Amino acid sequence: VAPRNRLVCNAHVSDSLAARLATIVGTGNVFADADRRATYETDWTRRFSGPARLVARPGSTAEVAAVLGACADAGAAVVPQGGNTGLVGGSVPRGGEVVLSTLRLTSIESLDAAAGEVTVGAGLTVAALNEAAAAHGLRFGVDLASRDSATLGGMAATNAGGINVVRYGMMRAQVLGMEAALPDGGIVSRLFGVGRDNTGYDLPNLFVGSEGTLAVVSKLRLRLVPMLPQRAVVLLAFDTLGAAIETALRARREVEALTAAECFFAEGLDLVCRHAGIPAPFTGRWPYYILLEAAARTDQSMALAGAVADAPGVRDSALATDARDRTRLWAYRDRHTEAINAEGVPHKLDVAIPLARLDEFAKEVRAVVLDLSPAAQVVLFGHIAEGNLHVNILGFAPDDERPDEAVLRLVASMGGSISAEHGIGVAKARWLELTRPPADIAAMRAVKAALDPRGIMNPGVLFPRPESQVPRRE
Ligand code: FAD
Ligand code: MLT
Ligand code: ZN
Repeated sequence: VAPRNRLVCNAHVSDSLAARLATIVGTGNVFADADRRATYETDWTRRFSGPARLVARPGSTAEVAAVLGACADAGAAVVPQGGNTGLVGGSVPRGGEVVLSTLRLTSIESLDAAAGEVTVGAGLTVAALNEAAAAHGLRFGVDLASRDSATLGGMAATNAGGINVVRYGMMRAQVLGMEAALPDGGIVSRLFGVGRDNTGYDLPNLFVGSEGTLAVVSKLRLRLVPMLPQRAVVLLAFDTLGAAIETALRARREVEALTAAECFFAEGLDLVCRHAGIPAPFTGRWPYYILLEAAARTDQSMALAGAVADAPGVRDSALATDARDRTRLWAYRDRHTEAINAEGVPHKLDVAIPLARLDEFAKEVRAVVLDLSPAAQVVLFGHIAEGNLHVNILGFAPDDERPDEAVLRLVASMGGSISAEHGIGVAKARWLELTRPPADIAAMRAVKAALDPRGIMNPGVLFPRPESQVPRRE
């Protein structure tokens, strides 16, 4: 398979675009030297990397728009980048693009505690927003293990999910308004955040999940949710996945205060224990685990434990109500991504399967990967309530796309989604056609062509480059 993600191109050390961008963002905020570019050029997994022509770090919406306008005039492609925690290769250059970093856009404006709303700069992290919101008894409704680095703009651009979707929905459900700069230098501003607004096309909603291919999000008006002080967590072990799924769904039906329903498997737990240096949760080693959390203003431990106490197939369990024990149990789930990364450079596939077929998928996905390489390692975990499994594959070269293709074809054949939360990026662009019919793709391409006629916004992301398209198979 031809390596497409490691294009080589000589980055321009100085050029007239750099000079123009310096007049917009200041000389300290545009740079081309290799040392300063390095952290912007490789993604979190180390699977995707490429040289940037320049890095520009605008400090306001007007500067973002001016940078885009200048790049459009120069015909220079742009890769928007927030915290660079994306897992599908969409946040790093493929070869010679301008990286537009949002990391200076960290404002927190007009936090309205009564309404539970706040306006923030797109480069603010979830952790920083939570710190500010906590003073008002509030928090942000999306939480994920990358909370210290992932930016709210990047999360909007990928429609991030995370561990609390079962309660609060994905990023799209939190976005009340947005300011975004277009590739022609124009600015879309819908920040007033009224609860109801039926005045035509919902542009912020269009930009959510657009992965930097249409516009650069510079500000967001976001919903906040109450901080719920009483949290109970239960970790359950099973010897069949079917029983684990049934129990998670029972909790979703019966535990009104449920905030999380997550799953992991024995292989992942072993990696977490080894790399994090922590003991296994139970004396027995069971193949399947679910972690449930309920949160409210009153104690939820009885409601949570009661709902799962007599669930068929439970082999062991642990309940945590104080902060230290909760953190201890959550670590088994939260630390999967870093443990897998410590083991090697993973192929990360993030899929959703109809719940009725999740058990069957978990078995078959191993078979299709091991068929390609018996020495490969398949680590599954994810957000069980939505049928969202993270399929992590170790043991293939970064550019060997055979396991990706085999897994995504299996997902499509089972009526699933090839991306449940991380997006398409460059990693899955070749296979978008597996689950989006030609009419969908034609409509998406028409939107892209209308807003980005010169194709400067994150080329290669979402839509495959022509030479890498795969034929659609029924
Ligand atoms: P980046 O990685 O910088 O960019 C991601 C994409 O968005 C790129 O295509 C980029 O071009 C575009 N983009 C970034 N900022 C903007 C902007 N302002 N305007 C327009 N486009 C922009 N994801 C989940 O959904 N759920 C999880 O539970 C989860 N857990 C994770 C745990 C770990 C340990 C790690 C490393 C990652 C995890 N992720 C998860 C993936 C990642 O954190 C999310 O995709 C997050 O939304 C990316 O935010 P970011 O600021 O890092 O964006
Ligand atoms: C998670 O749920 O922890 C993530 O989406 C990150 C990953 O898939 O590794
Ligand atoms: Zn996830």
